[in-house]
Amino acid sequence: MTTQIKDLEHYKTMYDESVKDPEGFWKKEAETFTWFKPFDKVCEWDFQGPNIKWFLNGKTNISYNCLDRHLATRADQTAIIWEPNDPSFPARHISYKELHEEVCKCANGLKFIGVEKGDRVVFYMPMVAELAIGVLACARIGAIHSVVFAGFSAQALADRVDDASAKVIICSDYNRRGAKNISVKTVVDDAMDKSCNSVEKVIVQKNTGGHVDWSDDTDIWWHDLVEEQSAECEAEEMDSEDMLFILYTSGSTGKPKGVVHTIGGYMTYTCFSFKNVFQYKEGDIYWCTADIGWITGHSYIVYGPLLAGATTMMFEGVPTFPDAGRFWSICEKHKVNQFYTAPTAIRALMAKGDDWPAKYDLSSIKVLGSVGEPINEEAWHWYDKHIGKGNAPIIDTWWQTETGGIMITPLPGITDTKPTYASYPMPGIQPVLVDSDGNVLEGNDIEGLLCIKYPWPSMIRTTYGDHERCKNVYFSAFKDMYFTGDGARKDNEGRIRVIGRVDDVINVSGHRMGTAEVENAINEHPNVVESAVVGYPHDIKGQGIYAYVITQNKDLDDTFKKEILDVVRREIGPIAKPDKIQFVSGLPKTRSGKIMRRILRKIASKDAENLGDISTLLNPDCVEDLKAGALV
Ligand code: WTA
Repeated sequence: MTTQIKDLEHYKTMYDESVKDPEGFWKKEAETFTWFKPFDKVCEWDFQGPNIKWFLNGKTNISYNCLDRHLATRADQTAIIWEPNDPSFPARHISYKELHEEVCKCANGLKFIGVEKGDRVVFYMPMVAELAIGVLACARIGAIHSVVFAGFSAQALADRVDDASAKVIICSDYNRRGAKNISVKTVVDDAMDKSCNSVEKVIVQKNTGGHVDWSDDTDIWWHDLVEEQSAECEAEEMDSEDMLFILYTSGSTGKPKGVVHTIGGYMTYTCFSFKNVFQYKEGDIYWCTADIGWITGHSYIVYGPLLAGATTMMFEGVPTFPDAGRFWSICEKHKVNQFYTAPTAIRALMAKGDDWPAKYDLSSIKVLGSVGEPINEEAWHWYDKHIGKGNAPIIDTWWQTETGGIMITPLPGITDTKPTYASYPMPGIQPVLVDSDGNVLEGNDIEGLLCIKYPWPSMIRTTYGDHERCKNVYFSAFKDMYFTGDGARKDNEGRIRVIGRVDDVINVSGHRMGTAEVENAINEHPNVVESAVVGYPHDIKGQGIYAYVITQNKDLDDTFKKEILDVVRREIGPIAKPDKIQFVSGLPKTRSGKIMRRILRKIASKDAENLGDISTLLNPDCVEDLKAGALV
């Protein structure tokens, strides 16, 4: 098992060791897993390529390490607690032995329909246990999974399926969300009608049993395929650098890109970080409220906890169903020890009042985690006082889809915490702040762009099908450094606070959204001439979406606004719908025709008095109109 840090001294020694001799450090951690053939070199890297390899020529299987490796010691221990949307339904407790069997059956089912090593399988499912089973089954046979968040539209799903040339889609019939059942299969049907030419089979998990349209050629029920399969399936021997999964995420430009993670490094880092960041102890019940459609769910619901032999909870529902006490009632019901959620959820529940958490016994909670966006001071204190009762350290964990695992965070009970500060780097992680010319800023009390100086095992290897894009986005801004896209500051004792994106990515309720993506969707409306989208501070969501739209439409009424929202919903999904739409006659542009987003951001953020120099604009006159019509 990977090392668990015991105290501050231990953290400091490990950190020093990891910087002085990164290869020696990671070799030790990686060797705690089962390798079918040992690796012969720890790391090979060059950020110019980029070419990053960890645990070279080692052969292993991550599903074997999540499951088989634990059978001798914890076959009957619960691996996954599945808590249903409807609290009157029973929770499911799946032991390591049962999970192993289910994964093997599913893996055999996938093989039966012709899925082979290297094939891509797209998941479009709610938070049902079959989602975790399915991704582990892919990993077992060497198929590459790509989970698409089930809130995305048919178009967004089709884009991802096409980019990955997926052979199979696995979905559910319906998604239970609070009081509603939302159709999932119809979205897949729509995506299949649009394109998805690479797809041979659609596997449908029966969740509610509601009506679905059926195509005998492509559709197959999960239970028909899986139930009769053998519960044994040997884990495929995989190279450490074989692809484990593709996860699409938004960037500054163009369509979402497929971030690629590979097996050996991801396995080592997610297990190591899970055990340390949550200080998970034998018998603890750990709950991360994320959706497996995002990286947090991949690394800290499925892989990290299972690699560490933990009991991990999956929650099907929403925080406000049947009422705003649901999270806390689940913590009480299952005696949750580590609770990991997003600031947006904390703020939303804080707004419902202190009485909700007060109704429940939360004394089992030892660690409170936060992830996905900066946590504001008010939310931090509320979380500390009303959920942790001052006894559970808050770990504000900073990381990204691309980093694979948590990079900067306090370690509970080991390092100190400070509101809004992610604080300290994990062992093996070397963050630096640079100025816009790439000069490294030394010392404390500084502000700059957050970069990482040396490779770590779970870092992005490429963007699927487009290696140049990976190089341009992450490795070209500054020589020999990975650029995160975030701005950060260091306090006078060296703790790091991540302020937010410095590129055209916005973070809405912890979901990453490219402004260009939203603009492209808005521009699909036939009467939209041009649009520009920026983020603005939003009390609950962290950032809201503000769209400036130039249109030929004469009637600038709510019907037209609704049409625009419908287009965005159709192209991306409801999570990308603008909160505010301002119709304008012009957008501020530089002489080279680039939109000056800085100005738009300031106007949307009620900071229009401070626009700075606008004399270089091609059309400075439009600024007064923009200010006059601002929806603030
Ligand atoms: C932001 C989520 C401040 C950041 C795991 C990053 C944070 C982006 C924090 C990645 C945090 C994540 N404090 N900002 N603790 N955690 N972010 O890929 O801007 O969905 O670049 O990964 O979220 O979002 P992603």
